Amino acid sequence: LPAPPLDSLPPVMAHRGLSARAPENTLAAVRAAHAAGCRWVELDVQLLGDGTPVIWHDARLNRCSHSRGRLADLDRQRARRVDAGSRFAPRFRGEPMASLEAMLALVETLGLGLNLEFKLHRGRDPAALVDTVLPLVERCLPPSRWLASSFDRRALHALRRHRPDPHRLRLGVIDKRLPRRWREEVHELGAFSLHLDWRRLREPQARAVAASPCRLVAYTVNQPRIARRLYAWGAASLISDDPLALTDIK
Ligand code: G3P
Ligand code: MG
Repeated sequence: LPAPPLDSLPPVMAHRGLSARAPENTLAAVRAAHAAGCRWVELDVQLLGDGTPVIWHDARLNRCSHSRGRLADLDRQRARRVDAGSRFAPRFRGEPMASLEAMLALVETLGLGLNLEFKLHRGRDPAALVDTVLPLVERCLPPSRWLASSFDRRALHALRRHRPDPHRLRLGVIDKRLPRRWREEVHELGAFSLHLDWRRLREPQARAVAASPCRLVAYTVNQPRIARRLYAWGAASLISDDPLALTDIK
């Protein structure tokens, strides 16, 4: 596929893959997103205790598998035994916890774009995550095919220190609500986009971001009524568990 222009984001990105219909953050969820016609997926990346990067959202294992304990206490060997599928539905039994490398190979093969969220739970090291993940992603995807995002400002600053040129690395600042100093933060980071929770977003805030050079991305939008409103306010892209529910809106 030809690389899309660096400026563009798709109207919808599949949150943790097609997580309404397949186990979140798995290879199966990304295949399902692709089959549903999605062009981009949003996924969370973290490190296991031995430094292996994996696609996983929580600090713990219990919500998305039948295993217990903390991701930070797992090594690659033990991670292979985690069933990331059957808690979602029995037919996904045996779906592995995806390594970042396996996921990148799939994203590349399917021609998808990737919003990779650098997920840092309490006590985890942002520099280790950035140092490990950035070169692996860049080996697989050109700058136009991916966007690095995080709630964690230390991770965002570390990413920018590694790649000072905003054309080589696009950054998305995630927050639960619009930060008071958002213009300064976006400027300091050379951020491409601001990713905000639609439930705490008001129209004047949305319009102010959309009118700035920084794109507005809203999460997690699963209702057509909300999607229409956010596009009308100027959102460039919506992150959705169920992009199929939003078809034909934009
Ligand atoms: O990247 C947007 C969204 O994924 C942030 O929240 O908790 O779903 O990772 P969360
Ligand atoms: Mg996320």
